[in-house]
Amino acid sequence: MKALFRWAIFIFLAVFSSTHLLAQDPPRERLLFDFGWKFHLGDDWPDAENLAKAGMSKGAAGRKFDDSQWQAVNLPHDWVVQLPFDKNASYNHGFKPVGPGYPQNSVAWYRRTFDLPPLDAGKRIWIEFDGVFRDAQVFVNGWLIGHHEGGYNGFRYDITDVANCGGTNVVAVRVDASKFEGWFYEGAGIYRHVWLVKTAPLAIAPDGIFVWSRFKDNIPKGHPEIHVQVQLLNSQLSNADATVTAQIISPEGQELAAIHEETVIPGDSTSEVDQMTRVSKPELWSPESPALYKLVTTVESAGQIVDREETSFGIRTVAFDPDKGFLLNGEHYEIKGTCNHQDHAGVGSALPDRLQYFRISRLKEMGCNAYRTSHNEPTAELIDACDQLGMLVMDENRLLGSDPENLARFQEQILRDRNHPSVVIWSICNEESRQSYADGGRVGATMQTFVKQLDPTRPVTCAESVGDVYSGLMSALEVRGWNYHIGSDMDDYHREHPQQPELGTEQGSTVGTRGIYETDKARGYVSSYDANFPHWANTAEAWWGCFADRPWLSGGFYWTGFDYRGEPTPYKWPCINSHFGILDTCGFPKDNFYYYQSVWLDKPVLHLLPHWTWPGKEGQNIDVWCYANCQEVELFLNGQSLGKKAMPRNGHLEWEVPYAPGTLSAKGYDASGEVVSATEEDTTGAPSAVGLQPDRNTISADGEDISIITVSVHDEPGHVVPAASNLVHFAIQGPGRIIGVGNGDPSCHEPDQYPTQSGWQRSVFNGLAQIIVQSTKVSGEITLTATADGLQPQTIYIQSQACEPRPCMP
Ligand code: GAL
Repeated sequence: MKALFRWAIFIFLAVFSSTHLLAQDPPRERLLFDFGWKFHLGDDWPDAENLAKAGMSKGAAGRKFDDSQWQAVNLPHDWVVQLPFDKNASYNHGFKPVGPGYPQNSVAWYRRTFDLPPLDAGKRIWIEFDGVFRDAQVFVNGWLIGHHEGGYNGFRYDITDVANCGGTNVVAVRVDASKFEGWFYEGAGIYRHVWLVKTAPLAIAPDGIFVWSRFKDNIPKGHPEIHVQVQLLNSQLSNADATVTAQIISPEGQELAAIHEETVIPGDSTSEVDQMTRVSKPELWSPESPALYKLVTTVESAGQIVDREETSFGIRTVAFDPDKGFLLNGEHYEIKGTCNHQDHAGVGSALPDRLQYFRISRLKEMGCNAYRTSHNEPTAELIDACDQLGMLVMDENRLLGSDPENLARFQEQILRDRNHPSVVIWSICNEESRQSYADGGRVGATMQTFVKQLDPTRPVTCAESVGDVYSGLMSALEVRGWNYHIGSDMDDYHREHPQQPELGTEQGSTVGTRGIYETDKARGYVSSYDANFPHWANTAEAWWGCFADRPWLSGGFYWTGFDYRGEPTPYKWPCINSHFGILDTCGFPKDNFYYYQSVWLDKPVLHLLPHWTWPGKEGQNIDVWCYANCQEVELFLNGQSLGKKAMPRNGHLEWEVPYAPGTLSAKGYDASGEVVSATEEDTTGAPSAVGLQPDRNTISADGEDISIITVSVHDEPGHVVPAASNLVHFAIQGPGRIIGVGNGDPSCHEPDQYPTQSGWQRSVFNGLAQIIVQSTKVSGEITLTATADGLQPQTIYIQSQACEPRPCMP
């Protein structure tokens, strides 16, 4: 009865205070700080940091400096994209002249002036960087406020003391990309968002909210506990009373619970408030049904609302079991994953948010349900996209290390990502050289304990590249990760260590070039039949066949979903990007995409390769492969049956077909002989026209949104011409700008970006290219025209619609 009474009071208070709370605006502001920066490439102020006198930084770091001649840029920004290719530069990093050996291109400066209103006096003011490659020295109003090393983690500084409220301020950032961190393209610059955050002196601490759910015995039945931990930061010298209210909002927008806690926070300190409630009939998050709840945390002190934050979260259970594999919401769930780096065609590592959603959607189309953030903390918007679209995440830390700096970087990642239901496992590192040694194991064990203190809800693994070995990291971490080794090694290990769950952390991987069916080493093209792979790797069929037969392995992550710049295995120059992707750098599918669809999706899939345009090969045998998920497939050439074959499980079919122009087609049959799928490849004519196909015709006029446009060259009837390589010119008019072009060709040295809005062009590669158009803050119609010599041009219109942009720094 007492409990009932308490709940009644809670509900009354919740209803009363939530209406009462809405009446006031808490001081928290989170302003996007991406627009209106100035950029200069070159280390022209080596003595900018004044070691003799504080607040008196010099040159570009100083208060008064004329940057009017610098280049105007918006963030995110990756200056490496516009550097030319250089045969002598790093193979791993995509042959761009940056990093060791290229000091002239490796240090740059960014500056931004901004006003703060007088009313900001008394607030705490923070500047937050989501990611800068690589070392950043940040100066505000001539004061050095911080030096951050590491290209993949976010960092923030409290600039309250040096801010000029009621006047003009300047932030200057020296970015030093002289050192590499990875062995893949890394870009350079302020390549993720920057934010200016203002709060009351008593506020929720940065990344100060942790919300997680727990079912009894981790079985998703009944009413889960919802735990809310709030860190409060009191920057005043005096103690402060505070009431923390946590409201739980259902995916449909209904308030389900509201809990209050009163506390006293001593002056100049942080303290934690722990709360718990339950929800009934929870909607469980999964890739198939990504239901998101909302936590609204409100802090009230002395009758005023001093802070409010909204946090999205999900309710679900995860477990890795040595016999049953991965369990999502209590059921065996096969991880059909891909590993990925962060760059995309046209823009390098500086992706507008919308590209994250585009890339995750492409992977989902393939049947992929999991993403490994190899080998670093991803940008926050990638995890948001995975939460919202439904994609599991293996969230990977950059480096093995229990030193304070490494742990601090990992802590930032965990605190940022631990509320996200998509994140199901932490990875502490990848293929470390000390992985099987005792010291590696001790460092790993310390990191695992560290993770558990910050997040007791998720298991820990790392990507391990040794075989049947049980020492070092393999024996220290909860989940054994497997890179590349398949078959007997795993079976032996499983028999010898039956208590340890296992996961394919990095598998595959075929090398192939989109639309290429005859390897051409000189040009750096690999045939895209699923047959070529480096000596440490396997084909798609080999790894997936192995995992599909061993459910205890939990499934795994293929290397890689998308091609990326750098690591052009199996070739070197003139190749500049990888061949591992199932999709190319633009996100155009290679043939293996359809293999994965056939084994990862339930919908009928039938795909033939190669294309059927082989002038000069009349009468010669062509290897025809088929991916399908039906019982039998019948192949036809120009209407004549070439026979029916039974579809092998997790495999493909092959025919040798003497080439004759016309139509190569196939029908798929189910067990009862009904046709369930059909496809055809037609011999195309000569290129006759350029096509432009935007992924969206309407975008938001917020200066951030983009339309991702497929450029194609087709013949008279409208088929994409498979070997077309025409150079296409682009002209844009209206309130939009082109921010990048690409074509997925791993050996193409044409620029991905041009310094102004005129002169943009790109060759199509095997018929296709991609152009990315971004809105400005002005609404209206954007006109994009594509022309090419001898081809019919095309013009498209994209509507950039007025919208409520997210709060930005003026
Ligand atoms: C792996 C490594 C990846 C990538 C890949 C290329 O060993 O973890 O980062 O280099 O090889 O095959």
